[in-house]
Amino acid sequence: MRESTSRPFFQPCSRLHELSAEEEAVYRQLDPARIPQHVAIIMDGNGRWAGKRALKRFLGHQQGAESVQFVVETASRINLPFITLYAFSLENNLRRPKSEVNFLMKLLRSYLVGNVQRMNDNNVRMEYIGRIHELPSEVQETMQWATEATAKNTGTTLTLALNYGSRSEIVDATRAVITGLIAEAHTRGCSLEDLLQVDGIEARLDEHHITNALYTGQMPDPDLVIRTSGEKRISNFLLWQIAYSEIFITERLWPDFRGIHLLEAILDYQHRERRFGGLGESFTDEDLDTLQPATEVAEEIVAKLTPKQLAPR
Ligand code: FPP
Repeated sequence: MRESTSRPFFQPCSRLHELSAEEEAVYRQLDPARIPQHVAIIMDGNGRWAGKRALKRFLGHQQGAESVQFVVETASRINLPFITLYAFSLENNLRRPKSEVNFLMKLLRSYLVGNVQRMNDNNVRMEYIGRIHELPSEVQETMQWATEATAKNTGTTLTLALNYGSRSEIVDATRAVITGLIAEAHTRGCSLEDLLQVDGIEARLDEHHITNALYTGQMPDPDLVIRTSGEKRISNFLLWQIAYSEIFITERLWPDFRGIHLLEAILDYQHRERRFGGLGESFTDEDLDTLQPATEVAEEIVAKLTPKQLAPR
């Protein structure tokens, strides 16, 4: 489950000069005022990357860990407040061979040990989401150490989704809400039924209660989801949180993904019109004046119907 830590206010800093020349060329095309608040990435294609080179799968994962660091550092240079990476799903844990799972756990530990100094140099905070209490204890200890070692940083928050599944996250959130209600009823010395009757169940359980009880309760929803390796699936990742996210799919395999590709995805995102279920900026009230009245439209439709279509059934 998500370890809750009180988050210092995100403080943007001026590190654009650290971008490579190629990254800077893409960054110059971006609107700095519309950098997403949160980018979530489904890192996919490590195995295929290795297969194409006749290498063992684990070398693909190893190269994928290198990509993580490159991408996170670019994210921190452009003041991206949150980046969340799908590193290890519940399904990976259950369905991959034990040897691959063990390798991924070892890789995670060595990644954290080897990169905490770079996280601090880049003002990046480390957090995790998922059923992390089910991971091996030595892995949890290293994770906890990395979180504490980076807790004072005020730049980008890197969240690794580990042993993560979105449906189980929603189950955990629902359980947390119910447990909270039972505890409150207990404190007040009444039954749960009585407690719900005081203000009505709507006041006690709505979308905000679920949102806040998710592992991501302290984060904004992702504005942009990137998936590498061309697969067009969400794979049980942040299902609740991505209701209105823009989705960017690239054929590039994760071990080949770099900061410049993150910037290209953000550029594509900035060309999208986000509607959140509304009509967007291209539709104005003047457009309503140009609409044909509904009664006229109905008359036109009826005029085109054949006698058979008009006959009562
Ligand atoms: C998908 O590739 C990726 C994963 C299962 C895990 C992601 C892990 C990493 C990027 C490396 C470790 C990360 C950290 C943070 C240390 P796949 O094996 O499903 O690739 P395939 O679909 O081509 O077989």
